[in-house]
Amino acid sequence: MLDATLSQLETRARERIAAAATAQDLEPVRIEVLGRKGALAQVSKDLGKLPPDERARIGKLLNTVKQSLEEAMEARKSQFDAAALAARLDAEWLDLTLPAPEPERGHLHLLSQIQAELEDIFTSLGFTVLDGPEVETEYHNFDALNIPPDHPARDMQDTFWLTDGNLLRTHTSPVQVRGMERLGPPLRMIAPGRVFRNEEVDASHEHTFYQLEGMMIDREVSIAHLVYFMKTMLSEVFRREVTVRLRPGYFPFVEPGFELDIRCLLCDGQGCRVCKQSGWLEQVGCGLVHPNVLRNSGIDPEQWMGWAFGVGLTRLVMMRHAIDDIRYLQSGDLRFLRQF
Ligand code: PHE
Repeated sequence: MLDATLSQLETRARERIAAAATAQDLEPVRIEVLGRKGALAQVSKDLGKLPPDERARIGKLLNTVKQSLEEAMEARKSQFDAAALAARLDAEWLDLTLPAPEPERGHLHLLSQIQAELEDIFTSLGFTVLDGPEVETEYHNFDALNIPPDHPARDMQDTFWLTDGNLLRTHTSPVQVRGMERLGPPLRMIAPGRVFRNEEVDASHEHTFYQLEGMMIDREVSIAHLVYFMKTMLSEVFRREVTVRLRPGYFPFVEPGFELDIRCLLCDGQGCRVCKQSGWLEQVGCGLVHPNVLRNSGIDPEQWMGWAFGVGLTRLVMMRHAIDDIRYLQSGDLRFLRQF
């Protein structure tokens, strides 16, 4: 009798195990069949009523059924576990061979770019790159450059004076003086840097801007050398052959002094809005170094001569990238900078 009950129990339980859709569905089967108050426990209680022989036989059978059902439960459960794991791995799938997202990359400021390019050009031509202080002495900024205190040329450069009598340099030319003092002749130097003028700020004027100074001193230098270096520099900056011209220009530290223009890159000399219909763009102040300047720096003008130039890096940047408002350059506005 109990044989039949056990066999029925087992068949029914196996069906339920097979039919279970989830691991949770197995729980009631476990409780109802294998649990402490389950069907098998009931059979086990009934064993007591059997004669000893039968009891042993059915007892064994009971154990076999119990064990096989436990195994079936376990097996079904591991099927569910495996399926759950597979589903999870599918959902969390990660391609480790995909390239990682790169960190956002910045770039040098337009002014730094042009400065680095010019340093490259001039060092390749045998020039050394010098640095000078932004807070200068009156002597280096003016007197040594042949601009005495009462000279009207001081008015050309509105100066930020400091209370201690020093000033914010109004041009990079004082580095000429420092270069001559430190290195002596022969000398080939450039000096890029920040300069300051007490200017009303508008689209084309800033109180803070950048220049590049250049100087060459040797036994015998000429304006032809100067023009060659200027042409080389400007052709590199604008990445094409430029046409230059010299006009007389006054700077107390050179004699003769020039304004060097390039033929307008936009209209090729025809006349346009950018060159104000003149066909030419003013680029560089330059000339042969005044004997007083050499003498002030301990160089004998009978033995040595030189040329010097000063170019506005800020202006070159604006021309190169067709930027029509100088204020963008130091605005710190990344939307502006990211365009380049
Ligand atoms: N220092 C002059 C300026 O700022 C430029 C210059 C430099 C001119 C060297 C001649 C020689 O305007």
